[in-house]
Order: sequence, then structure tokens, then C-alpha cells
Amino acid sequence: MFRTKVIATVAVAAVMLGGSFAIAGSHADPAIAAAVKARQGIMRVYAQNLGVLGGMAKGAIPYDAAVASVAAGNLAHATKFNHMLMWPEGSDIDAFEGSNALPAMWANFADVGAKGGDLAAAADAMVAAAPNGAEAIGAAMGAVGGACGACHKAYRKPQQ
Ligand code: HEC
Repeated sequence: MFRTKVIATVAVAAVMLGGSFAIAGSHADPAIAAAVKARQGIMRVYAQNLGVLGGMAKGAIPYDAAVASVAAGNLAHATKFNHMLMWPEGSDIDAFEGSNALPAMWANFADVGAKGGDLAAAADAMVAAAPNGAEAIGAAMGAVGGACGACHKAYRKPQQ
């Protein structure tokens, strides 16, 4: 009885130690932290430029062909980053605090790449549409938003 209790206590302590080492390790790895920040930064570049285009499509921001082309061009350029260094093993939501990337991503890289390709194609279509007015931007918006959403639905922690 006493023996069992000691063993159980040691086991719990070992699990707790192991757990805290894992968390401390993920905080302390600057390469992982930099990768997570870089990819979240790219996502924010997407969002900023898409916000400008969406505002023009809705009429919340006055249409300006030059500004629309800058936003669409930025979006399209950002989709062409090589993401290889931005998604290292050990940077999913379970392994790294601050990440919202689901572990499923690492088991489905081919699909992730295809979804990234869908976004790049939609962003190129947005570049073509941008000089043609707010309505043309609105028409190109569905494919861009759909490409963002498809990947988030599969690989990002659901947002509240
Ligand atoms: C190929 C997959 C994929 C595509 C395409 C994609 N995202 Fe993401 N996005 C993610 C994942 C995964 C995360 C979570 C990353 C993390 O927290 O490490 C994320 C996070 C974000 C975030 C939060 C960034 C932060 O600071 O935490 C924003 C904003 C965002 N995405 C916007 C967009 C927009 C806008 C588009 C489309 C123009 C887009 N994303 C397309 C996968 C994708």
C-alpha cells in the first residue's frame, strides 16, 4: 500500500517535470518562435491588403485604381513566399504556445501546398481585376476569401 503510493507519487512528479520541461523548451526555442512570428506576419500582410480590397468592394473605402493595384499586388506577392522555413516540426498548437496551427497540417503538407496554390491563383486574378473598378474587385473577392477560409477551416484552430 505504502509502496504503491510512493511509486504513484514519483510517477506523477515525473509527468509534471516532463510536462514543464516540454513547455519551457518550446518557449526557449528562438528558431521556432521566429518561424511562428514570420508566418503569422505573412498572414497579417494578407489580411491588411485584403481588408483594403474588401473595403473598396463594399464601398466603405472609395475606389482608387492605384491603391487597389498596390493592395492586390502586395497580396499576390505575399502568396509567393516560399513557406518551407516557416512551418518547422514542433510549432503546432500543441507543441508551441502562441501557435494556432493544427497538428493535422504536418500530416497533410501536399494538401496545404495545394490550398496555398489556390490562394496564389485567386490573388493573381485579383491583380487582374483591381484596375477595373470596385465591382470587379467584389467579383474576384469570393475566390480569395474562399481560399483563406478553406485552409483555416482545415488547419487553424477555430476562432471565437
Ligand atoms: C495554406 C493555409 C492558409 C491559407 C491559404 C491562409 N491561411 Fe491564414 N492561417 C493559416 C494558419 C495555419 C494559421 C495559424 C498560424 C499560427 O498561429 O501559427 C493562420 C493564421 C492567420 C491569421 C492570424 C495571424 C496571427 O497573427 O496570429 C490571419 C489574420 C490570417 N491567417 C489571415 C489569412 C488571410 C486573410 C488569408 C487569405 C488571403 C489566409 N490567412 C490564408 C493558414 C492559412
